[in-house]
Amino acid sequence: MSTEVEHLKLMAKEAARRAYAPYSQFSVGAVIKTHDGTLISGCNVENVSYGLSNCAERTAIFRAIAEGVDVKSVDTVVIYTPTKEIHSPCGACRQVMAEFLQGDTTFMSFSEQGMKQWTVSQLLPDGFSF
Ligand code: THU
Repeated sequence: MSTEVEHLKLMAKEAARRAYAPYSQFSVGAVIKTHDGTLISGCNVENVSYGLSNCAERTAIFRAIAEGVDVKSVDTVVIYTPTKEIHSPCGACRQVMAEFLQGDTTFMSFSEQGMKQWTVSQLLPDGFSF
């Protein structure tokens, strides 16, 4: 693994520690990186009214937008889950990534034991748009 990817993994792992997940007990950390090296992290933030919960990926993307980062220049999204299994992103996050990120953006999911990667277009083929 390159040192850059190792760093992104560590950042996502750190972000997962900040997850607010008292209902699912399932922590997720995310980090997005732009071409110029800007890094924005996110974690899942749940709510007692479950449907209001926000995933780590969307927290990072929305945060980047709010901070004025050009999200079209994101080249990598990394998530980390402190689990044995490797998890793929939920449908809502796929739709949001399809809206804001380029189709060839790399999405990497790390667990304690491995990593799997896709592009944003692979995660949502034939996605909805007007
Ligand atoms: N979750 C994420 O943060 N990212 C995903 O890609 C899948 C699910 C969160 C949402 C919820 O807080 C918890 O994981 C269990 O679904």
